[in-house]
Amino acid sequence: MQHTPARFVLDPAFDVAVVDPRLFGAFIEHLGRCVYTGVYEPEHPAADEDGLRTDVLELIRELGVSVVRYPGGNFVSAYRWEDGVGPVEQRPRRLDLAWRSIETNRFGLSEFMRYLRKTGGEPMLAVNLGTRGVAEAVDVMEYANHPSGTALSDLRIAHGDAAPFGVRLWALGNEMDGPWQVGHKTATEYGRLAASAAHAMRMVDPESEFVVCGSSGRGMPTFGAWEAEVLAHTYELANYVSVHAYYEEREGDRDSFLASAVDMDALIEGVVATCDHVGARLKSAKRIKLSFDEWNVWYMSKPSAEGERDWSEAPRLLEDVYSVTDAVVFGSMLISLLRHADRVAIACLAQLVNVIAPIMTEPGGPAWRQTTFYPFAQASRYGRGRVLQVHADSPTYSTSVHGTAPLLHATAVLDDGTGDVTIFAVNRGQTEALPLQVEFRGLGLTAVLEHSVLTDADPDAKNTLADPQRVTPQSAKGTEIVDGVLRATLPPLSWNVIRLGSAD
Ligand code: AHR
Repeated sequence: MQHTPARFVLDPAFDVAVVDPRLFGAFIEHLGRCVYTGVYEPEHPAADEDGLRTDVLELIRELGVSVVRYPGGNFVSAYRWEDGVGPVEQRPRRLDLAWRSIETNRFGLSEFMRYLRKTGGEPMLAVNLGTRGVAEAVDVMEYANHPSGTALSDLRIAHGDAAPFGVRLWALGNEMDGPWQVGHKTATEYGRLAASAAHAMRMVDPESEFVVCGSSGRGMPTFGAWEAEVLAHTYELANYVSVHAYYEEREGDRDSFLASAVDMDALIEGVVATCDHVGARLKSAKRIKLSFDEWNVWYMSKPSAEGERDWSEAPRLLEDVYSVTDAVVFGSMLISLLRHADRVAIACLAQLVNVIAPIMTEPGGPAWRQTTFYPFAQASRYGRGRVLQVHADSPTYSTSVHGTAPLLHATAVLDDGTGDVTIFAVNRGQTEALPLQVEFRGLGLTAVLEHSVLTDADPDAKNTLADPQRVTPQSAKGTEIVDGVLRATLPPLSWNVIRLGSAD
């Protein structure tokens, strides 16, 4: 039986917000092979003069990454930033407590900034509020941003970086609510420390922006209460509160997995409500925005994907290989972020290379795109503009975790410069195609520029070293605008990008 069509209307008078380009950010942590043999491998035949893999740099540019969060993650909570600056041969080898690995510190702040200059991204630098405090946070800011004439700014210059790095965005710690975190704190302890750090750091650089730690997940017992308490201490100093979410298919329940964004929507809306509750209590006109700085599909409960934590250098950790089903859920998470562009200003895909990543590499060997690479690259390329409201009337299906969920998950972005509109849409149904009909008001759309679809007869199909092009986006047929109405067919279990413009 064929589904009745899913329908919605697009009208430029009804929008959500202009997308902040920082929504297409990513995350590089000193974890497994994200840095070493990921972005950085001086011994690789394709390495440049800074030890960066040019094949990986090219893929990162193609991915369209804006802001990059660095250096962690759990790693940052025991990290000494000064270990990663100065002559490489003098840098210490340390125990990385978070991932039970050896950290050589061959890559640090200066190498990270060089990497960013080559990919065009903006840094979000995380400071250690686990084992360290205000003094060290101020120190790293002085080293990074003060022009010259002080001990730490002159040290940077002596290290070869004459110009300040100009880091504007700072993450005040990582997941401090989590008992696994080195230096884990109560909300009151962390809120007071984050407020002191932000206060002092803003004295160094009044232009700086701060992300305070929200909960490390919606499932945390302190979710909501944590944000409220932290913001009670930091509301007027913070710009953003962090949000983290990872999803995976559990016990073969693919229907629920495909509706993961239902949970993501509730998470975002819950954090927004908490921020506004605190703002209302403080009678503040300021609105805190969200930095969704860790999101992805992650098979956390599968020990095989986790790898060995045995005090080795750059071990293979968290090297999940993503299927086309994972890419559809991943695309749905991107849709959720775009649909909340009024409050989610920043988002960082966790992570960028090798570690739960869209890009994989082999040491000394090739780099390739995982299935999840494509939705991110397409959203980053065509999702910059004004998000239009999409209130879809869609057939539904049942899930055991999220109740009844719509088969269609969609958003639309208008490029005010060209007038083109891109619809991003997922069909969550596993067996039936979903017809889609979209009406337009005042948009002058007459032509289908492209309908790209990511789907596969095998929902478990993956890209691997042996077969790196197994899953790629294909051109869909039959998509047309007739009498001002778009008609398309979304294959079962598919991620769709439908670009519309004017034939004139
Ligand atoms: O991204 C992997 C880890 O997940 C990060 O280090 C941590 O912040 C989160 O728990």
